[in-house]
Amino acid sequence: MFKVHAIAPHRLPSLLKAMPKAELHIHIEGSLEPELIFALAKRNGLSLPYANVEALRGAYAFSNLQSFLDVYYAGASVLLHEQDFYDMAMAYFEKAAADHVVRAELFFDPQTHTARGVGMGVVIEGLHRACLDAQTQWGISADLILCFLRHLSEADAIATLEEALPWRDQFIGVGLDSSELGHPPEKFARVFDRARGLGLHVVAHAGEEGPPAYIWSALDTLKVERIDHGVQAIHDAPLMKRLADTQMPLTVCPLSNLKLCVFTQLSDHNLGQMLEAGLCVTINSDDPAYFGGYLNDNYLQTFAALHLGGQHAYKLAANSIQASFATEEKKHAWMHELKQCFQGFSEQD
Ligand code: ADE
Ligand code: ZN
Repeated sequence: MFKVHAIAPHRLPSLLKAMPKAELHIHIEGSLEPELIFALAKRNGLSLPYANVEALRGAYAFSNLQSFLDVYYAGASVLLHEQDFYDMAMAYFEKAAADHVVRAELFFDPQTHTARGVGMGVVIEGLHRACLDAQTQWGISADLILCFLRHLSEADAIATLEEALPWRDQFIGVGLDSSELGHPPEKFARVFDRARGLGLHVVAHAGEEGPPAYIWSALDTLKVERIDHGVQAIHDAPLMKRLADTQMPLTVCPLSNLKLCVFTQLSDHNLGQMLEAGLCVTINSDDPAYFGGYLNDNYLQTFAALHLGGQHAYKLAANSIQASFATEEKKHAWMHELKQCFQGFSEQD
């Protein structure tokens, strides 16, 4: 076990920023800032139902997941060309590099785009080209995870997966997102079977707003390798034990949970309790352009609200690296970097 020395509270913010970390739950369409939405609308000759950037940003007041999704899908409608997808992802990577993200696994929602007549190749090739350039420009290792929209049918998800297969080598897994309530994981049992058969990684949103039963179903029916969100597990003791015993990673998104009213205030968030219970928790940004913060903002605000310290920082960063789908060789190198980073900080005290 790596020994984390006490970190002076005033040095915690710089440590949180400097430590190498992975981001495992970021919807790339949720990184579209209002400025870029307006720039892309102009470039593509589209008009928006908002007068300007400020008016659009002013509309970002959400009462639950669905109220956010309505705005999020409207924002994504400015994406038409390969270059648009590339520019969106590169803008995210630039921010991620500043937060010392060494590994990013990007969710994307192809059905949002193919339903508007945008080709699957346009979406995947633009995003994939950005992933390659993130490695050369910032040394960020990045891969794509194709998400199915759970408010649509399983038949639509199956057709989407088949349509994406010519680009099978440009994404590493599948996920499940969009409106959770009323759309349990088992609705997608067959398409997840097919994805696993293709050797794809599998993850799913579960227990963001939905009940613990959805987390059980994601584990047992979809056989996921990570749970996205999972914060509702706290209401089910046997589930908490299972998650701890199996060290099933949870990609928790504190600022998202706050903005979508899953918790009333950040100090009510259960991330600290889940860490205490021995769960493999990670911190992520979800849709940073809409929720008021990128990865480091999530760490900073959560640490301040929950009074977390150096040990927690090490654990969360280590969990993010270990729970990623990168090669063991890369994980080993980042764990070494993480230890060096903490050693550097403790020596300065
Ligand atoms: N799509 C984008 N953000 C999402 C979230 N937080 N939950 C479900 N689907 C999403
Ligand atoms: Zn999400």
